[in-house]
Amino acid sequence: MIEQVGVVGCGLMGSGIVENVASRGLQVVAVKATGGDVSPAREKLARSLDRRVRKGKISEADRDAILGRVRYTTELSDLSDCDLVIESAVEAPEAKITLLQKIEQQLSPGAILASNTSSLPLESLASNLSRPAQFVALHFFNPVPVMKLVELSTVEATAPGVRESAKAFCERIGKVPVQVAPSPGYVVNRLLVPYLLHGIESLEAGIASAQAIDQAMTLGCGHPMGPLALSDLIGLDVVHAMAKTMDRELGDGRYKVPALLSRLVLAGQLGRKTQLGIYDYAGDSPVLNGEIKITAPGGTPEAAEA
Ligand code: 3HC
Repeated sequence: MIEQVGVVGCGLMGSGIVENVASRGLQVVAVKATGGDVSPAREKLARSLDRRVRKGKISEADRDAILGRVRYTTELSDLSDCDLVIESAVEAPEAKITLLQKIEQQLSPGAILASNTSSLPLESLASNLSRPAQFVALHFFNPVPVMKLVELSTVEATAPGVRESAKAFCERIGKVPVQVAPSPGYVVNRLLVPYLLHGIESLEAGIASAQAIDQAMTLGCGHPMGPLALSDLIGLDVVHAMAKTMDRELGDGRYKVPALLSRLVLAGQLGRKTQLGIYDYAGDSPVLNGEIKITAPGGTPEAAEA
């Protein structure tokens, strides 16, 4: 039975996983993989919980209890009592393998190691581990506390009992796990990433304004948000990294990175997390990033609302 969960990586995804797991009553050890001060991560969780208190979703006592279940640290050795550790660090193959190996050295014999990798080939991660039988992928979606899906993937060596425990864990934290093959991108990103890239490419090609592209997909297809706003939510660096990996691994031309995406990532304009991406989030409502000069049909460079 999984009672104590480690989460390695305190970025957007890691923070969401921590919040979700602790909200469901499990103890969490949250490791800031890059070291340094952990207080911003704790404050981020507190802010997110405060928002739920203000909305009347949880009480102040619930908030305090959830915060009390999370221990923040920079030491991987603090993971030694965890039954499951979910790695949620950057999608860089070498860095991820090194980190997974370091985590593995800290784990107790029965503990399960999961990667939240969105696009790296799972078998090649597993081949670098000493206990691949205990390894799975649990792929979460942003915003983690809201999105119900977890893609559950295993490698050939994964023990059946480990897969079952991982599945039961997902259900316990309120998620719906779907079993997917260990192919880069699984189901969602295999379909979603080409769509996001085409959204950005359509903006670049002047097919429509940013607002019109996003509205087209929200109003025309019933999506909760359009591809440009969604790219900013996911993080343009994450979209870029996934596209590069899937282009390399799957090699079928659907994952070609638009120049505009590369330029924004190079400039450190990564979306909501930097307050500037395809949209600029500094004001009351998002407007098109002023540095994106696109002439859309029927207009001059626009100031669009997301
Ligand atoms: N953390 C916690 N809760 C959040 C949240 C966050 N970051 N953002 C929104 N919420 C909650 C709100 O509190 C609200 O909860 P309530 O209904 O209980 O009050 C609920 O979500 C709806 O939020 P809002 O009313 O503020 O806003 P919207 O109705 O516009 O919904 C959205 C926001 C949930 C982000 C919605 O637009 C959406 O579903 N967008 C699509 C997200 C998506 O496609 N995610 C997948 C990305 S792919 C991915 O993550 C894979 C990876 O590999 C990159």
